[in-house]
Parts: sequence; structure tokens; C-alpha cells
Amino acid sequence: MKGSLLFVSTMIFSSTVLACIHPVKHYTTLGCTPSEEFDAEGCPLSYNCPTLYERDPDKCYLLGREYDIGQSVPPEESISSCYFMSCYQNFENKTEFAVAIADCFFPIEPDTCILQYEPNQCCSTRSVCGDDREYLVKCTVNGRSYYEGERVYLEDRHCQTCLCTRASGGCLEGEVTCQDHLCDFEVFNIGKLLEGAAPVYDDVSCCPIDWRLPQETDAVALCAGSYSGNYAYQQCLYGNLTLNQGESLVPSITQDGKYKCSCAIPPMVHCILERKS
Ligand SMILES: *[C@@H]1O[C@H](CO)[C@@H](O)[C@H](O)[C@H]1NC(C)=O
Ligand SMILES: *[C@@H]1O[C@H](CO)[C@@H](O)[C@H](O)[C@H]1NC(C)=O
Repeated sequence: MKGSLLFVSTMIFSSTVLACIHPVKHYTTLGCTPSEEFDAEGCPLSYNCPTLYERDPDKCYLLGREYDIGQSVPPEESISSCYFMSCYQNFENKTEFAVAIADCFFPIEPDTCILQYEPNQCCSTRSVCGDDREYLVKCTVNGRSYYEGERVYLEDRHCQTCLCTRASGGCLEGEVTCQDHLCDFEVFNIGKLLEGAAPVYDDVSCCPIDWRLPQETDAVALCAGSYSGNYAYQQCLYGNLTLNQGESLVPSITQDGKYKCSCAIPPMVHCILERKS
């Protein structure tokens, strides 16, 4: 009996996780672990982020893994097959990633050539031209046809890179395989993150588009929000302010638009940028 109850609750959790309306990519990128409890909106009550709050100053951190000074990030652990990274100590004795970006060569070729990409490879490896294309399988997506090895751009999958590949065992219709884009803020925005900035998302971004530092004019919005949970012990610290879960800052208006920042899922405040239309 106990076993079946457990089973049911697991099912409910796994279906509600998908429904969380708040962005959590900053947490998942940092390798934070979600709490086992979820709120009514299907979001974890909080995250535990050791790679943010228990950092060893002599290590670099990426996607929940740590690297020693002088250590290279193995290609399969990198944020992209186009980035070659290693951990080093800068002149201020702070650890950082040194990044070399692959420089792909695009040969000038006739229109009938299809550059051939492979999963986990930044640059195309070769091209197939003219009648030789008939040896490639094709993938049909949304009424458009792609050749095997061709990158596929899907409107509804803008957070993924997709590729038409030969289906295992099949030789007629290929299959589209996709990989999630990984966020690069641990490489390019780590300074702001460690200074206590909040990730900023807009309504289309996969990853934080910016990091907003606490400002002296920030204030917690006084009107009681619609949040009615009883998880008051979960809090976010943002600059000198402490927000209970569900509390928001008074929106701030800049020339980019309106920043709505809130403590939706502690311990980090996150902001949504509503751009001026
Ligand atoms: C960096 O570390 C070295 C060796 O410990 C020390 O001599 C130097 O003053 C440090 N530099 C900074 C900017 O802290
Ligand atoms: C936080 O408080 C300190 C001390 O009162 C003040 O100097 C600082 O400007 C405040 N920071 C923010 C972001 O309000």
C-alpha cells in the first residue's frame, strides 16, 4: 500500500515539474539540486547551489562540475563543441576560464553543395555536392526537406540545435536529432553572478540574457502578492534586501523596458524584462 502511494506521488511530481512557469535555467546550469517538494505551480520550492555558494576560490566551475587551475575542460563537458576551455588564475588571482573559439572554414562552393555536420562537432567536416546528394537520406520537417548532415532550424525549438541524421537501420527517411543549447554565463558573466546579480530573462530567451545587480533604489513591493503558500522560511537575498518566496521588487523601468524581479524560487531572485514594444 505504501509503495503504491509513493508511486502516485512520483507521477504527480514528474508531470508537474514540466508545468513550472518560472525560468530555472540559471539553476540547472549551475548544477543546483531542486528541493524534493514542489509548490502548487509545479516549481521546486527552492534549489541548493553549492557551486555558487560554496565555491573553492582555487577552482573553476562549469555546469555543476569543478576544474583545477591549469585543467582543460574535456570537449564532452564543454558548453559547446565550438569552445575549447581551460581553468586559469587571472592577474587578480581569481579563477576564470580561458576560451578559444573554433574558427570554422567555409569553402566557396556551388549552391548544390550540402555542408555535412555531425553531432558534437562545431565545424562541418566535408560537403556533398550535385548528384552525390542522392546518396544522402532526407528529413522532412514542417513541409521543408533537409539532407542528412544538414543543420535544421526549428521555430518551436529555438533553444536547441537540430541536425538531420541517418536513422539507425533505416535508409529512406532520416531523423531529426536535437541537443539543448547550454548557457554560457559561467564563462562570460561569472563576475556579475558572484557579485549577487539576478539573472534576467525575456519571453523568448533560453538562457539569461543579462545579469542585474542590486540597486540602491530597489524596494520590495508592498502589495501582498497572490502567493498564498506557507513557505516563509524560504528566502532570497538580493543586495541589502531579503525577499520571502513569492515577493517581488517594485518593477524598475529602464530604456530597455520594465524589469520585474521576484523571489519565485529561492535562493536567487530572477528578473523578467518586458521590452518596450
Ligand atoms: C596573487 O598571489 C600571489 C602569490 O600568493 C601574491 O604574491 C600576489 O600578491 C597576489 N596578487 C593579488 C592581486 O592578490
Ligand atoms: C547596502 O547597504 C550599504 C550600507 O548601508 C550601502 O552602502 C550600499 O549602497 C547598499 N547597497 C545597495 C545595493 O543598496
